[in-house]
Parts: sequence; structure tokens; C-alpha cells
Amino acid sequence: MNVIWHHAKVSKRDRWLKNSHRSALIWITGLSASGKSTIAVELERRLFEYHINTFILDGDNVRHGLNKDLGFSEKDRKENMRRVGEMARLLVDAGILTIAAFISPYASDRAAIRNLFHKEEFIEVYLKCDLTVCEARDPKGLYKRARNGEIPDFTGISAPYEEPAKPELLLQTDSFPVNESVDRIFSYLTQKGIILNKR
Ligand code: ADX
Repeated sequence: MNVIWHHAKVSKRDRWLKNSHRSALIWITGLSASGKSTIAVELERRLFEYHINTFILDGDNVRHGLNKDLGFSEKDRKENMRRVGEMARLLVDAGILTIAAFISPYASDRAAIRNLFHKEEFIEVYLKCDLTVCEARDPKGLYKRARNGEIPDFTGISAPYEEPAKPELLLQTDSFPVNESVDRIFSYLTQKGIILNKR
């Protein structure tokens, strides 16, 4: 591979000092309709209002562009994770408190992303939501179509979801309001010194 690595003269730590907060990857995983995008959007808004540099990588959105060539086979989901993991690393290197919202059903794919980061920079947030609740919500009508056999490899129906064994945070989103989930993530970030507690 005839390429070399160019070293920058601005480090991640320099950026953290300039921003007055650290960067990290908040990895939100869970079934479709467990609340990933909703929580990501509310969390981003809250962080932005707190003058934090933040950005969302969302499964549905990324699949409109960078990953529009990928489907939902195990192999394609793995490639989806690989690309998103690399992109998240660039954003974290750029000093951004990054929020990722992907079903990310395979434990080995999530572990591979965790391995790209320092321990304190990767925060796995598992949105635990009963399948029956996700199916009843069905905001995009996809569960119904999956049950009718119109969508193959649908997570929870005809493809697996491997629950995180030791997530940094577990939020029971079938019984927890969105604001409380956002509060919990926000408190975690202040507790760990990723963002400053200005209150
Ligand atoms: S992941 O499994 O590769 O992490 P990702 O989060 O990018 O999935 O995309 C999930 C979104 O794609 C879902 O919210 C849903 O809207 C849509 N989708 C379409 N087909 C499927 C499928 N077979 N399984 C799961 N989600 C699907």
C-alpha cells in the first residue's frame, strides 16, 4: 500500500481545549422504532444549545448517500458499520461529540467499532424496547411489510438482534419518555467529564 500517514500539527487535545469539551462517540443501538433517531435528534439539540460541537450519523440518512449501495444482508450491514466507524473516528478526531444511531444488530460489528476508540471515547447506549412495542409503533409501516414477507432480513422478524452484553448505558425506551433518556445520556457525559457541568 504505497501511502504514508501525514501527521497534523493540531491534535485532538488541542481541539478539546479550544472547544472546552472532549469528543467521543455516543453509539445508539436498538431495534427499528426503539427511538434511536428521536433520541439522537433531541440529544443533539440539547448539546448544541449547551455550545457543544456535535453531529449525528443516522442509519436511514447515511443509507441515502455514502452507503446507498448497501442492503441488509449480514455482509452489507458489516460494511455499513465499517464505513460508519471510520467516519465516526474522523469526526471524533475533529473534536466533535458524535452521535451515531444505527440498529447495528451484530455484537461483533459493534465490538469492531469500539476497538477503534480509546475506552473513554466510546459510549454504547442500548435502547431496550420490547419487539411488540416497536411493532405496535411501526412508524414507517416496515414491520407490517416484513410480517407479510415483503421485506427480507428484517431485524427482529427475520434477522437477529444481538443485545449488548455490557453497554455503558441501557435505556428502557418502551417505558421511559424521550426527555428522560436524553437526561440520562447528558448526565453520563457530565459525570465522565466529557462535557463540563456549568450548572
Ligand atoms: S443496520 O442494521 O445496518 O445498522 P441501519 O440502522 O443502517 O441498519 O438502517 C436501519 C433502517 O433501515 C431502519 O430504521 C429501517 O427504516 C430501514 N430498513 C429497511 N430494510 C430493513 C431491514 N431489512 N432490516 C432493518 N431495517 C431496515
